[in-house]
Amino acid sequence: MSEYPNNFLWGAATSAFQSEGHVSNDMLEWEKKGHFRKNGKDPVYGNAADHWHHWREDFDLLAEYGLNAYRFSVEWARIVPEPGKIDEKALDQYKQMVDYLLKKNITPMLTFHHFTHPSWFHEISPWHTNEALVQFTFFVDAVMQKLGKYVDFYITLNEPLVWALAAYGDGVFPPGKKDLNLMMQVVYNLLLAHKSSYSIVKKYNPKARVGIAKNIIFFQAKNRMNPVSVLLKSFVEHFFNDMLFKAFVRNKLEINLPFFLTFNRKIDLMESIDFWGINYYYRMFIRCKLDKHLPFEMFFENKSGFGLSDMGWEIYPPGLTYALKKAAASGKEIYITENGIATDNDNKREKYLELHLEQIQKVINNGLNLKGYFYWSLLDNYEWIEGTNARFGLIEVDYAQKFARKAKPSLQFFSNYIKKFKK
Ligand code: FCB
Repeated sequence: MSEYPNNFLWGAATSAFQSEGHVSNDMLEWEKKGHFRKNGKDPVYGNAADHWHHWREDFDLLAEYGLNAYRFSVEWARIVPEPGKIDEKALDQYKQMVDYLLKKNITPMLTFHHFTHPSWFHEISPWHTNEALVQFTFFVDAVMQKLGKYVDFYITLNEPLVWALAAYGDGVFPPGKKDLNLMMQVVYNLLLAHKSSYSIVKKYNPKARVGIAKNIIFFQAKNRMNPVSVLLKSFVEHFFNDMLFKAFVRNKLEINLPFFLTFNRKIDLMESIDFWGINYYYRMFIRCKLDKHLPFEMFFENKSGFGLSDMGWEIYPPGLTYALKKAAASGKEIYITENGIATDNDNKREKYLELHLEQIQKVINNGLNLKGYFYWSLLDNYEWIEGTNARFGLIEVDYAQKFARKAKPSLQFFSNYIKKFKK
C-alpha cells in the first residue's frame, strides 16, 4: 500500500453561487433573461443548495466523515454590492464560516474568482478594460482584511480560460461576447489580476500559499492517422492546456494558431504563483469539420468503457495522471482542486472515486509533488448550464424538502479511504 505525504489535504469543493443561494449577481440576471434556457436546458437557480443557511450542518458532515480541507469561494456580489461599498455583514458571515472550519480542524482554501461578478461589474468595469483590475483588487483587499489572518490557501482564479471562453468566446456566460481577440485581452487582464492579488494576499499573510485552479482536458484526435486532426488537436491542447503554464515560465502570454488566433504580450509573472490547482474531469475527442469559422468539433465518446456521466462526460481516469504530470512540469506544488462526476447513481460515483484515487496513488509513489485532493462537489448543487439536474454531491440535497442534507454512500467510501492513510 502506498503512502500519502504528511498533511495531505483531503477535501471537497464548492463555489459560492453554486451552493449558497440568496444572492443577486451577473449570473442570476443572465439566467433570468433566459440565456441558459436558450440552450435547451432548464436550470432554475432557486437558491442553489441553500448553503448560506446550512453551512454549519455541511461543515459538521465534512468533519464527521474525516475530511480535513474545504475549498469554497466568496461571492464578490455579496461583499461589494455597489462599486466601492463593502458589506461588512457578508464578510462577518464568511468569518464565522472560516472560524467554524478551523475549530473543526478543517483547512480552508478560498477562491476569489469563481465565474461570478456583481451585477454592476460588466457595465462599469468589464474584464477587457483596465478598470476591472481596480475593482477586483478592491474586493480581494476587503476579503484579506477580514480573513487574511485565518486562511492560508488561496485560489485567485478558477479556470480562467474556461470562464473567458464561455463569456467572451462562446458568449454563453455574461457578458455574452463572441470575440476571440477580446477574449485574449481578458485572459491577459485576468493574469494581471492574479499577479496583483498574489501580492495583496502576501501582504496580509506572508505564509499563505497562492495558486490558480486550472482545468485540464485530455484531448485526443479521433483519427490519429489523419494529420489534420492531429495538428488541430495539438493547437487546441496548446491553447487550452499549456498556454497558461507557459505564461508563468516565459513571462509572456503567447498564442500563435495560424489563421485563427494570435496574441503575444509580455507579463511579468515568474514569482507570483506557489501552486497549481488542477481541475480534471474528462477526455474529449477532436475531428475536422468543414466549417470555415470553426474547422473542427469536439465531442465525448464512451471509448474507455468506464461510461459517461449524466452530463455526457467520458470517465477517463488516466487523463488525471496526464494532467498531473503536465502541471508538475512547472516545478510548483500541485493540488487537485476539482475532480468529480455528475450522476444519479451513487455506485458510479464510488467507482469514479476509486479509479481516480488509484491514479493518484500511482503518481505519488512515483514522486510527484501532489499535496491534496478535493472532490467536486461536497453538495449536490447548481451546475452552470444544467441547473440542479446534475448531481455532483457527496451529500444529497433534497430541494423539495427544505434543502435537507443526507450523506451518500460515496461519502462513506471516501471517508474510509482517507482513514486508511491519514496520519
Ligand atoms: C468546473 C467548474 C465548477 C463545476 C464543475 C463541474 O469547470 O469549476 O464550478 O461547475 O466544472
